[in-house]
Parts: sequence; structure tokens; C-alpha cells
Amino acid sequence: MLLELRAPHNERLSIELPVEAAHLGTPFNGSLCAEDGQLFSIDRNIVQLVENKRTFDTLAQLYNHVPVTAQVYEDLWRRRSIGLLSGEDFSLEEEKKLLLDWTEPKGGEKILDLGCSTAFYARSLQDYEPGAQTVALDLSLPMLQKAREKAVEEEVDLFLLQADARQLPFFSDTFDLVAMGGTLNEVSNTAQVLTEIRRVLRPNGRFFIMYLLKSTHWLGRVAQESSSLGGLHYWTYEESKNLFKGAGFTIDRVETKGIVAFALLG
Ligand SMILES: C[S@@+](CC[C@H](N)C(=O)[O-])C[C@H]1O[C@@H](n2cnc3c(N)ncnc32)[C@H](O)[C@@H]1O
Repeated sequence: MLLELRAPHNERLSIELPVEAAHLGTPFNGSLCAEDGQLFSIDRNIVQLVENKRTFDTLAQLYNHVPVTAQVYEDLWRRRSIGLLSGEDFSLEEEKKLLLDWTEPKGGEKILDLGCSTAFYARSLQDYEPGAQTVALDLSLPMLQKAREKAVEEEVDLFLLQADARQLPFFSDTFDLVAMGGTLNEVSNTAQVLTEIRRVLRPNGRFFIMYLLKSTHWLGRVAQESSSLGGLHYWTYEESKNLFKGAGFTIDRVETKGIVAFALLG
């Protein structure tokens, strides 16, 4: 089934993305045409929907655009990150199990991994339920290129979009499930991104989020205050609850491991 996108330059126009773009084993190149004739390029299956070529506002975001970061991100950092940040023994495989147990993806569902980096969540969800249609979206082209490489190795089909979470290129009520790992701490306008997620989720849709809370330990606070200079934000659990409620979400499930929080919102 093709994927219908909302044109980033005019929210009344649609762009039809052929299903072949998600078959990552076969390079797909060319351009997509919005209804008014505006073209968007597709380079090796990655659809480029960012109009502004400068795709970062902060130092933390700039770091994600460095090709070497994308190369080492998942295997060197992400694999250990939850264990290191939480101070608990919690592997990437355990995180994947929690993601799948809580979200229970089903055939025919549309799924979005928002701020996907190398698309660990998107690959896990689509591999578990090949009858779903999963979109992995990020602003960083090197991250999406690495996501493609990993998905090809694992023979998982995904739509890969270079786009901005603050203005999602989808019509309202598109997705059954949105998953977002670590990205809320990094985006420049948290409330706007949460409102966009609420808009593109169907009324009974699920939103799985992993995010980092404010540390209560002095050393953690020092580290977080210096990373805030690079553009990262942290919240107490109460503050995050208010953020989610303010965007229209209900909180169905929460588990915290040190400063790492997992939540399922509806
Ligand atoms: C912490 S990483 C995400 C990790 C990934 N979700 C995972 O589970 O491994 C944050 C990602 O968000 C992306 N990002 C930051 N701001 C964004 C925005 N406005 N729109 C889309 N992606 C954004 C960055 O490029 C980066 O790849």
C-alpha cells in the first residue's frame, strides 16, 4: 500500500509515496511530485522532505549530523545507553521486549518511529509484525543512511523520511502507533512536537516514549546542566506528566529505571 504524505510546503496538498520505496533491498531513486508540481527527491529510498537545508538548531542536534556519529551510535552507545544512564542492568534486547510487549503491533497498522536515528524501534516493530507499515523519520541524513544499512542487513522493509518532527508530513489521524526513543529530550520545541504527535495519531492510537528525567543526584545534575547548554532538556516526572496531559495524552503505563522513563500514552 502506498503511503500518503502531507506536503511540507502546503498542508492541503498530498504526495503519494510508492510502496517500492520501503523495499530497502532495492535502491529506489528519483523524485516525488506534490499536487502543485513541487518536487522532493528520493535518494537510495530516503525521501527528503526538509525544505530548509540547515537541519539543526542546537549542538546536540548538530552531533547527529556527523557521519561518524551515525556509524557508531547504535553499536557503541545505544546498546549500552539504558544500562549506563539508569545504573541498572537493562540490555537493548530487554528494551525491545518492553517496546513490543507494551505496544503489541498488529498487521495492517501504520507505525511511526519519530526521531529514529538508526531506527532501532522501527526495525524491531516491523520485524515483529511484517504486516504493519512502519515509517522511520529523522532530520539527520547520516542517521537515516545507517538505518537503511541496518534494515537491509535484517531484511526489514521501512519507509525512511528526512523530515521535521515539529511539522510532521502526515495528515491528521494517520498512525495507530508512534514510538519515540530519547528524542523528546533533544527536540527544540517539545510542546509543538507532542501536539504534532497527538494530531497524526488516530483517536485510539498508542504513543510509546522513552525519555530521560531530571537526575536527583548532584553529579547527574551537573552533567545534565552542562548538556542543557548543548540543547538537551530534562523534566521531573511530574513536569513530564503535565507536558503529556497538556498535549492531550492520557498516561496508561509507566516504568522508570533511574533517570530513564518508559511510558505508554493514549
Ligand atoms: C536520542 S536520538 C534518538 C534515538 C533513537 N530514537 C533510538 O531509540 O535509538 C535523537 C534523534 O532525534 C533527531 N531529531 C532531533 N530533532 C529532530 C526534529 N526536529 N525532527 C526529527 N528528528 C529530530 C536527531 O537527529 C537524532 O537522530
